[in-house]
Amino acid sequence: MDEQQRQYYLDALGVTRWQLRVPLEAEQEPPPIEELVADVEPQPEHQPRSRAEPAPQPISTPSSRSSEKPDWQTLREQVRNCRRCGLREGCTQTVFGVGDTQARLLVIGEAPGADEDRQGEPFVGRAGQLLNAMLLAMGFRREEVFIANIVKCRPPNNRDPRAEEALSCEPYLLRQIELIQPRAILAVGRIAAQNLLKSDLAVGKLRGRMHALGEARIPLVVTYHPAYLLRSPEHKGRAWQDLQMALSVLREAP
Ligand code: URA
Repeated sequence: MDEQQRQYYLDALGVTRWQLRVPLEAEQEPPPIEELVADVEPQPEHQPRSRAEPAPQPISTPSSRSSEKPDWQTLREQVRNCRRCGLREGCTQTVFGVGDTQARLLVIGEAPGADEDRQGEPFVGRAGQLLNAMLLAMGFRREEVFIANIVKCRPPNNRDPRAEEALSCEPYLLRQIELIQPRAILAVGRIAAQNLLKSDLAVGKLRGRMHALGEARIPLVVTYHPAYLLRSPEHKGRAWQDLQMALSVLREAP
């Protein structure tokens, strides 16, 4: 997609164009991927958040014994039938995730909200529209990436998912990541960033540098949640820097 087209989409969405007020480092020649990934700190953040929290358990359904990892269809069914935590009791339906199952970019949010719970698709409300605009600004249509959440069921009254709920749901997300094999992950918002990186740090501390997820060392970029950006548009410039960092990774990736 060329620059003109991208601007057209942003205008059509009524979204303020993402123009940087100050020149950014990220606008200059992007650093090579090795440099970005090498920047990952050996982390307190990779330590479990609290000793009291249980380690992630494998999905304990008959079809997913370790020798038999679920394929997409089985995984969908497992999520649909899941009762691993109490969230399913209070939601309308599970929200598995959408997009290209071979996407280079995986976007991970927090949890379905009211609109997502109704429609069974992540990021379809106002925050979703801004996310779409952010993706378009990166040169992606929504259906060209994969979009998922930390938890697949809407928490009551849109409260944050609890640590144990995120852990119950984690095996599903980890399997999605394994199946997609994305070249980069964009974690949007605190809940996504903290749960993926096993960190207590604020988004402001986790963004602006490259992380690497799991043994596969998948490059992971943290940015602000679009719902937060709707409330605090003054941070869009920083979010744009984050998106550019993710883009620089994708450009370098095979
Ligand atoms: N916010 C999220 O984090 N995920 C959604 O699916 C919708 C809103």
